[in-house]
Amino acid sequence: MSQPLLEARKVSKRYGRVHALQGADFTVHPGEVVALIGDNGAGKSTLVKTLSGSTAPDGGEILVDGTPVRLTGPLDARRHGVETVYQDLALAQDLDAAANLHLGRELHRPGLLGRLGVLDNAAMRRSAVAAFAELGVDLRDVTVPVAALSGGQRQSVAVARAVAFAGRVIFMDEPTAALGVVQRGRVLETIRRVRDRGISVVLISHNMPEVLSVADRVEVLRLGRRVAVLDAAATSVEELVGAMTGALDPAQDPALDPEPAPGTDGAA
Ligand SMILES: Nc1ncnc2c1ncn2[C@@H]1O[C@H](COP(=O)(O)OP(=O)(O)OP(=O)(O)O)[C@@H](O)[C@H]1O
Ligand SMILES: [Mg+2]
Repeated sequence: MSQPLLEARKVSKRYGRVHALQGADFTVHPGEVVALIGDNGAGKSTLVKTLSGSTAPDGGEILVDGTPVRLTGPLDARRHGVETVYQDLALAQDLDAAANLHLGRELHRPGLLGRLGVLDNAAMRRSAVAAFAELGVDLRDVTVPVAALSGGQRQSVAVARAVAFAGRVIFMDEPTAALGVVQRGRVLETIRRVRDRGISVVLISHNMPEVLSVADRVEVLRLGRRVAVLDAAATSVEELVGAMTGALDPAQDPALDPEPAPGTDGAA
């Protein structure tokens, strides 16, 4: 397989007494949709935060193109082409959809002597309308404050924002959780389009049929560790659920354990 674009190796993270990540591994290859699944509290969002620079891991390594990196913040991750749609959406509620789309990357009119001029709102609106149209996002007015949009529309704005600026990989932490059937289908379609542009997508979802319909690979996290890597075309909802809950974990069922029991390993 190709050289991984992004990798977590044995990443750990504690929140006080909670050991959210306990040596978690994770791999993203170029141009794939990889689903990151696991039960509530398995550490998915925490892992995404460490890979997108918004939380520093306590241990382990993060590699970009095979080279260890230390991500000092979301802007640093962005320099490596990593964008994130967080589970707890980070949109500016008082700004409109067009301004949110350009948050942190505002367009300016050229100023005197090459200096940055005033914000070019018209250009931002035009580019926002184009970006939403390209993603099939149905937003009648890009100048309404985001606070006045529905949850699903806000979610669409956040997804569009990440897509518009992602260089190499987009993390989407439960992007469809708040959406109705139609909007959900659109987000999945967006994920496929993004992948077709050669950008990798990491999808976190609790919806197993959705995972199987859009992902190329599935990595399963349980209790802060990766416990399975599955080819989406060759697995089933039952197998995914089994891996998430530990029902298929050999360590929990000695009858399935191919390893000899401790003390019987034949060491002389
Ligand atoms: N900021 C925080 N402070 C303290 N504990 C945290 C914090 N963030 C996460 N945790 C804890 O770390 C563990 C992993 O949480 P995380 O949010 O990564 O799980 P998750 O797999 O994303 O779950 P869900 O499917 O419910 O979103 C949980 O026990 C959670 O309570
Ligand atoms: Mg989460």
